[in-house]
Amino acid sequence: MFENLKPQPEDKIIKMIGMFAADPRDDKLDLGVGVYKDASGNTPVMRAVKRAEARLLESQDTKKYVGLLGNLEFVDGMRELVLGGSVASSRVTGAQTPGGTGAIRQIFELINMATPDATVWISDPSWPNHEAILKYLGMKVGKYRYFDEATCGVDFDGMMTDLDGAAAGDVILLHGCCHNPTGANITVEQWGAVTELLMSKNLTPMIDIAYQGFGDGLEEDAAGVRLMAARVPEMLIAASCSKNFGLYRDRVGAALAVCKDEVALTKGALATLNRMNFSFPPDHGATVVTIIMGDPELRADWMAEVESMRVSMLELRSGLADALRRETNSDRFDFVADHRGMFSRLGLTTPQVDKLRDDYGIYMVGDSRFNVAGLPADGLDDLAKAIAAVL
Ligand code: LMR
Repeated sequence: MFENLKPQPEDKIIKMIGMFAADPRDDKLDLGVGVYKDASGNTPVMRAVKRAEARLLESQDTKKYVGLLGNLEFVDGMRELVLGGSVASSRVTGAQTPGGTGAIRQIFELINMATPDATVWISDPSWPNHEAILKYLGMKVGKYRYFDEATCGVDFDGMMTDLDGAAAGDVILLHGCCHNPTGANITVEQWGAVTELLMSKNLTPMIDIAYQGFGDGLEEDAAGVRLMAARVPEMLIAASCSKNFGLYRDRVGAALAVCKDEVALTKGALATLNRMNFSFPPDHGATVVTIIMGDPELRADWMAEVESMRVSMLELRSGLADALRRETNSDRFDFVADHRGMFSRLGLTTPQVDKLRDDYGIYMVGDSRFNVAGLPADGLDDLAKAIAAVL
């Protein structure tokens, strides 16, 4: 039977992880996959996570199943983290999922179950796995304009025009904050305008929020989503703890649904989808997050650490923008300092990206997306020189 398999299309982020690992050069630089790194290039376990894990190890006396929807305290904690008080908790249901990708997959399947003819509109560009999963599920995909290559900002007029062309019942996937891959984000006022449009056209928002806390702060990064949640009748949210809790490999995420009044129905569908795809979601990381959220001291320490990660990424952004200004003698790359989140796209061509990799051992995704946290604080001038040299 295996002869019937076809080679699978490669995910460009995963491909790059493999290429970087296979490169024998000692001075290679990984600006690829979205993983936070400290000044020494390590991705440490966060302080509060270590302490919560120690507590869990001491107190856990069984490994029996928790429930199809996972740890409900965790799901409610995620609701609170993302939505704050913007919508009554009685209107929100959700499921714990294996990572943010698990949440995205379950939500796509929920949409497919409820409204198989709907088109899911994603930003152009978006995280590559959005389109890949939708296509794999045989769902209809639309793309709305998002990034203006000329200004390296959001093409908001183009975005609104394209969303206006969506049909009633379609789903609009928005990045809650820290747009991946561009780093260009809509303002809170623009969230308001998108909300109006969605409501007037009977479109359902789906939010992918994987970098809360890495842009302008934990609360600030959720402001647009909360404004929208307070107004729309229905909303879907895929939230991830991979980045802001540093729990990448433990696979911690949540699929949330804000409902008009079909909470029980939606909850049942999410439980069934979990059952059919993997049964019970992995417990460890979600329970660690629950311990942190429920303990004022651990929570404060976690928030402080997220904030210091955010600030260090902002400093790296301005450092690189300054170095590029000096090396290129132009303001072409000033947008790097204005963008928010873990990524920006430099706007290089594929041959330029290839040359950076081949000649300098500098790895970024083919569309010239780079991981801000991977920037070397003491090597920004060299990096800017290399970028200037391939222009
Ligand atoms: C990324 O975009 O680099 C991260 O979300 C990791 C991934 O799974 O692609």
